[in-house]
Amino acid sequence: MKKGIMVGFGNVGKALAKELISLNKIEIIAVITSKGVYKLKNNWRSELNNLANEYPRGNREKIDILDLINEFIPDIAFVTIPPSYYNGEPNLSIYNTLIDNNINIITADKTGLALEFSSLMKKVKNNKLFFGYRATVMAGTPAIDVAKGLRGRNLKGIKAVLNATTNYILSLVESGYSMQSAIDKVKELGLVEPDPKIDIDGYDAAAKLSIILNTLDIESNINEIKRESLLNINEEKIRKTLNEGKRIKYIAYFDGNKKGVHLEEIEMDSQLARVSKNYNCILFNVDNDTITLTGPAGPAISTAKSMITDVLEYLEKD
Ligand SMILES: NC(=O)c1ccc[n+]([C@@H]2O[C@H](COP(=O)([O-])OP(=O)(O)OC[C@H]3O[C@@H](n4cnc5c(N)ncnc54)[C@H](OP(=O)(O)O)[C@@H]3O)[C@@H](O)[C@H]2O)c1
Repeated sequence: MKKGIMVGFGNVGKALAKELISLNKIEIIAVITSKGVYKLKNNWRSELNNLANEYPRGNREKIDILDLINEFIPDIAFVTIPPSYYNGEPNLSIYNTLIDNNINIITADKTGLALEFSSLMKKVKNNKLFFGYRATVMAGTPAIDVAKGLRGRNLKGIKAVLNATTNYILSLVESGYSMQSAIDKVKELGLVEPDPKIDIDGYDAAAKLSIILNTLDIESNINEIKRESLLNINEEKIRKTLNEGKRIKYIAYFDGNKKGVHLEEIEMDSQLARVSKNYNCILFNVDNDTITLTGPAGPAISTAKSMITDVLEYLEKD
């Protein structure tokens, strides 16, 4: 059986652990988090199950990821660490270390691909590795598969709601909340990234747009995507737009040339206007048609399940 390590063991990592135990096709030999490493020595399935139920209790030791790889020589790493868009670290170093040591990767973290898609994928190809990233965009809905299926077509544009948190904030404001109380509410529900700027200043949506564009062979980097803050609008404008039969949405767009994340008035008959809760929506404008994809983006269990789809593809290819 192939051997794997887990890098990160939060909401997604723990849900993924349970899915990997059920699948029983890759043996997990170690779990590394910011608190240290847990080595699974005997019965990996019951040890991993206990860890998922009891984390962060248990014995752990501090170890560098490179030492861990050298000690265990895993076939694959499951990466579920938080994003780090400002300078990319430690995420970029983790990806580079894994790839340079010929370890396949399945990730839910967008950082590496949003910042350095081309260079990472070039090394992945040269080293004949597998890099699964279905969970990075609309986790739970096969957005990456749809983007791959549109390669080589005449893509004229993309419009998408890619961040459920900001979408929820806008719908709370429509229903009468002030912007600040809507933000407080989503924080209370645990729906905001630990650094709220990642959602509210558009980093998350820009990272996802960048990954979709790169998947479609349009070179892109999060830093070249123009971002307007969600806070650039007031409550009155959001509610006035609703009264006029339209909705303000936080849209990630590509018009064939420009790429950005901004606030936009959307007609009510558009799927983009109707997307709510944890759902996302992407409109691909291809040739003279619009291809629409709507579906869930998270929570952690859907994210973990989309990583299992990556596992099945990895096992078939190997
Ligand atoms: N939640 C979702 O539905 C969803 C959907 C799609 C994508 N994602 C992405 O999936 C990733 C994980 O999300 P999450 O909700 O599981 O986050 P989380 O609950 O905050 O868990 C993050 C985990 O990463 C560990 N970690 C942090 N820095 C590390 C490092 N340098 N080396 C090793 N481990 C490290 C943390 O360690 P400690 O336990 O020691 O703190 C924690 O176990 C994020 O990038 C997120 O954007 C999440």
